[in-house]
Amino acid sequence: MEISNFSIDMYQDVYRLWEITGITLGASDTEEQVARVLDYNPELFLVGKVEGKILAVVMGAYDGRRGYVHHLAVDPEFQKKGYGKTMMEELHKRFLKKGVVKVHLFVENENEGVIEFYKKMGWYIRDNLEMMSYNPDNKYSDKC
Ligand SMILES: CC(C)(COP(=O)(O)OP(=O)(O)OC[C@H]1O[C@@H](n2cnc3c(N)ncnc32)[C@H](O)[C@@H]1OP(=O)(O)O)[C@@H](O)C(=O)NCCC(=O)NCCS
Repeated sequence: MEISNFSIDMYQDVYRLWEITGITLGASDTEEQVARVLDYNPELFLVGKVEGKILAVVMGAYDGRRGYVHHLAVDPEFQKKGYGKTMMEELHKRFLKKGVVKVHLFVENENEGVIEFYKKMGWYIRDNLEMMSYNPDNKYSDKC
């Protein structure tokens, strides 16, 4: 698999990949919003291609203090072949290169199967924290 930076002309293919892998999508996943993530983190937003077809994607982000991983997905027909691990290893390297000391990600309760996947790559669960969210614009509720 060849890993490269995401570019906005890949949006439709990547959105479809997120859809078929069951990633929860909402108001933060429009082309306009995804382009904003790209603007902030051009070298952390990655796609993996095989024979020119996008089979994997991960949206890394850095806010100057912490790193984040969003929307990692591998085409269901190509899962369990090491592509997810390869994507994360590349992203880990890129975080390291930027000097990021800690990275967070969020796993939805009903998707606990992937926890094992992340643990194999050194991720650990924080059992001393609860996640809280606040929406400055109430119109988005929790659908973003
Ligand atoms: C999570 C996901 C990206 C993993 O991608 P993948 O290419 O299938 O994973 P890999 O083949 O690289 O697996 C790496 C290791 O994790 C293990 N693994 C992968 N998925 C697993 C699962 N659901 N449960 C337990 N172990 C898993 C593999 O067996 C492999 O183990 P090994 O190194 O001992 O052989 C993929 O299942 C996916 O796209 N899921 C749907 C979207 C999703 O839930 N994304 C995460 C959002 S938080």
